[in-house]
Amino acid sequence: MILVTGSSGFIGRNLVKSLLSDGNKVVGIDIEDCPDYLLTPTKTSNLSDENFTFVKGDLRDGDVLRSLFDRPIEYIVHLAAFTRVVESVNKPSEYFENNVVVTQRLSEEAIKHGVKKFLFASTNAVAGDVGYSVINENNALFPQSPYGANKAASEMMLNAYKSSYGLGAVRLRFTNIYGKDMATKDSFIARMCKAALGDKKIAVYGDGTQVRDYVYLDDVIGVIKRVLSLDSPDIIVVGSGSSVSVNELVKLVEETIGLQFSVEYQDAKKGEMKAVIVDNGSLKSIGIDKTSDLGEGLKFTWDWFKHSSYI
Ligand SMILES: NC(=O)c1ccc[n+]([C@@H]2O[C@H](COP(=O)([O-])OP(=O)(O)OC[C@H]3O[C@@H](n4cnc5c(N)ncnc54)[C@H](O)[C@@H]3O)[C@@H](O)[C@H]2O)c1
Repeated sequence: MILVTGSSGFIGRNLVKSLLSDGNKVVGIDIEDCPDYLLTPTKTSNLSDENFTFVKGDLRDGDVLRSLFDRPIEYIVHLAAFTRVVESVNKPSEYFENNVVVTQRLSEEAIKHGVKKFLFASTNAVAGDVGYSVINENNALFPQSPYGANKAASEMMLNAYKSSYGLGAVRLRFTNIYGKDMATKDSFIARMCKAALGDKKIAVYGDGTQVRDYVYLDDVIGVIKRVLSLDSPDIIVVGSGSSVSVNELVKLVEETIGLQFSVEYQDAKKGEMKAVIVDNGSLKSIGIDKTSDLGEGLKFTWDWFKHSSYI
């Protein structure tokens, strides 16, 4: 049985769907309601409610967290977190409690109950401002935001728990994830798709020359499933390995959609990195040589927005 925390979130709900389609037994926990498509099996899908248990609850509540282990959990994919870099600058204590303390308690329960693997959703932002240097799994950790520091602190703890107690911890350092079903996100690609369906206005923080790596959701789900089933390194950089500037991304989305945005340039936000350029060579160690092309991924993402009824 696989425990997915944050199972109503962007990655969580899509990961659960994929794990259930493969016939796994899954328990999900989230503060937010579970999407209907996970709770209501249909004739066209082989999802089965027998294989899925949803717990609506807050992991900061110790009783709720401990009660998850009444089930025979063998694997944990820990996705639950507060995830907004800019918000973390204004709410550092709340972020620490939810992103670090919860990870510590969950990993200690995992050790107590003999969980085989603990996959942790981290970020390349743990590396901090490396200018335009390429980030790989060996970078020293110099996070710039409380959010990045939460992930770095959790990573350090998991490393120590692996050495001290044999916890099967794997840290997955994601870049910016995009894809279908991301209307709940406030990230840049989601904001552009929503603006395209609305007033066509977008805000760019800074001058738009900051560089980012965007990785497609299905690639990320593929990596998580591989790591659950194979021996893997302790740290995996999960990115496309090919970065673009925010201005280039705007152009690419405009071409994909066939419109022009009205762009307002605003002050750069504190805690944001100038560039995220990653070497995703660690994916090769789990048999992944190639990730999706950004242009193709944007087409699928836009197609989902066009046809979804979220708006
Ligand atoms: N999406 C990305 O681009 C990206 C990039 C790097 C790292 N990550 C990490 O991946 C993970 C998942 O990201 P996402 O995009 O799906 O985020 P998301 O915000 O869509 O989902 C997170 C989910 O966790 C839940 N949650 C938060 N605190 C909780 C608590 N105390 N108890 C129960 N549920 C709680 C939220 O309700 C939410 O549904 C996060 O840890 C995030 O930091 C994501």
